[in-house]
Amino acid sequence: MEQSYIMIKPDGVQRGLVGEIIKRFEQRGYALKGLKIMNVQRHLAEKHYEDLSSKPFFPALVDYIISGPVVAMVWEGKGVVATGRKMIGATNPLASEPGTIRGDFAIEVGRNVIHGSDSVESAQREIALWFPEGVTEWTQVAKPWIYE
Ligand code: GTP
Ligand code: MG
Repeated sequence: MEQSYIMIKPDGVQRGLVGEIIKRFEQRGYALKGLKIMNVQRHLAEKHYEDLSSKPFFPALVDYIISGPVVAMVWEGKGVVATGRKMIGATNPLASEPGTIRGDFAIEVGRNVIHGSDSVESAQREIALWFPEGVTEWTQVAKPWIYE
């Protein structure tokens, strides 16, 4: 089953949005397969966003991600990568629809609360990067009530 790497950024943690964000993915029907709160080493933040290393905002982005603990998660379920991105909303929160996480809880692109993998391939790379120990195997018994 498809998995996505979802990360509550330091502003989301400090603003007390962890429960709200987990609630949204859980209520949608996705299964939480990995979860930890952690302070991020600079090299891990740089590796995670390596595709953006040439951007002018890259140093500020890395400083932002290492500025406080993040909540690292792996969520599993049908279409979770694309649907997770829809639930998160546009990169710039001023362009995010109300009802999305960024559209409900953020204003600035450099404080946009949450990360979600942008493709299945990125998700696999990011899950390996953030959960080298692996995730937790468990069977969601509600599956027949969520999937046809
Ligand atoms: P993530 O889920 O965090 O990867 O965001 P995204 O996929 O919606 O956007 P992208 O991967 O292009 O950018 C990664 C992160 O860099 C964004 O979430 C922002 O925090 C930051 N970022 C992107 N564009 C800008 C920008 O123009 N200015 C600033 N200050 N930050 C930016
Ligand atoms: Mg991205």
